[in-house]
Amino acid sequence: MGKGDGDNAVMGAEVGEMKKPIRVAVTGAAGNIGYALLWRIASGDCFGTNQPIALQLLEIPPGMQRLEGVMMELKDSAFPLVHGIVGTDDPQIAFEGADAIFLVGSRPRTKDMDRSDLVAANGPIFVGQGKAIDAVASPDVRVITVGNPCNTNALIACANAPSIPSRQFTAMTRLDQNRAVGQIAERAGVPASKIHDVFIWGNHSNTMYPDPRFATVDGKMATELFEDEWFQGPFLDTVATRGKEIIVARGASSAASAASAAIDHMRDWWQGSNGRIVSVALPSEGWYGVPEGLVFSFPCRCENGDVVVVEDLPVDTFAQSKIDENVAALLEERAAVSELLG
Ligand code: NAD
Ligand code: LMR
Repeated sequence: MGKGDGDNAVMGAEVGEMKKPIRVAVTGAAGNIGYALLWRIASGDCFGTNQPIALQLLEIPPGMQRLEGVMMELKDSAFPLVHGIVGTDDPQIAFEGADAIFLVGSRPRTKDMDRSDLVAANGPIFVGQGKAIDAVASPDVRVITVGNPCNTNALIACANAPSIPSRQFTAMTRLDQNRAVGQIAERAGVPASKIHDVFIWGNHSNTMYPDPRFATVDGKMATELFEDEWFQGPFLDTVATRGKEIIVARGASSAASAASAAIDHMRDWWQGSNGRIVSVALPSEGWYGVPEGLVFSFPCRCENGDVVVVEDLPVDTFAQSKIDENVAALLEERAAVSELLG
């Protein structure tokens, strides 16, 4: 790709050496999150400004006309990094050779529902998509599941893709982490960039535990600045129920912040988290006593293209009680979808 390929060429794309294009699949591409996500991927925010991409977009038949419009707008944005756009309602085409997959397409909840109430409607989607990933994606594919209930949907996709190592299937709790950062930053009166190493344990549900014990605020321990009563009360409640609060206020579930968190998650996985602890839900290998296979959010670092669970953090009584609560909730969700697990 040369300098003259587009007026909006990103600086890095012009100076860095261009890599071989990768294939990036996005499901639910004509939905609300898709509309925010695709422009961030296409501009280089996720995979880097010297990484060309081919976009492979999946919708269901009723969404195909909206997808046509989204594809027209993507073309009209003339992104220098975009080396082709395919739109389809066939997962086998969308996932063909995919190096990274964003599993977004599924129904959002309404304000009278919990996320787990979506499993009957959304769970079956991840059976067929897991099988298609197994059949046609790159063996090194990295998958982020955003569609709710995302931990259990990732479990379903992973179970239906036996040839792909389970560590390549993740679910998104980065939005919850970002919400926790936002709450601490606001209370401390500092920008979000000053907050490090707060992370989420467990399920993307009301039981999640945003753990502040290792968090720093401009280099100081957050727990020395703010009291446990705040962290275990209003802070935890705000983070855990923020999704519902947004649905009530907007009349629709979070979309731009969800897309932004999906970018953060995949960017760190792809490019590294620079030694920082980040939240990734992935199939447990028994870490912290969490039963094997449950897709559980752990403290992680991203290094050399891998997600590595930070295994040696001390767990106090409160943290253990929250881990136990999340294990119980996820075991219940797993039992409810046992017939979808292949
Ligand atoms: P949306 O209704 O705006 O868009 C969903 C899109 O998915 C629609 O265009 C629909 O046609 C498409 N779709 C449905 N079934 C599909 C399938 N089988 N294959 C491909 N596409 C399909 O919803 P949204 O606001 O974009 O939210 C999508 C999902 O993300 C919801 O389940 C929502 O609850 C979830 N979500 C998760 C998080 C998180 O933090 N994990 C945050 C926000 C939203
Ligand atoms: C969120 O946390 O914003 C999403 O999971 C949407 C929802 O249903 O709360």
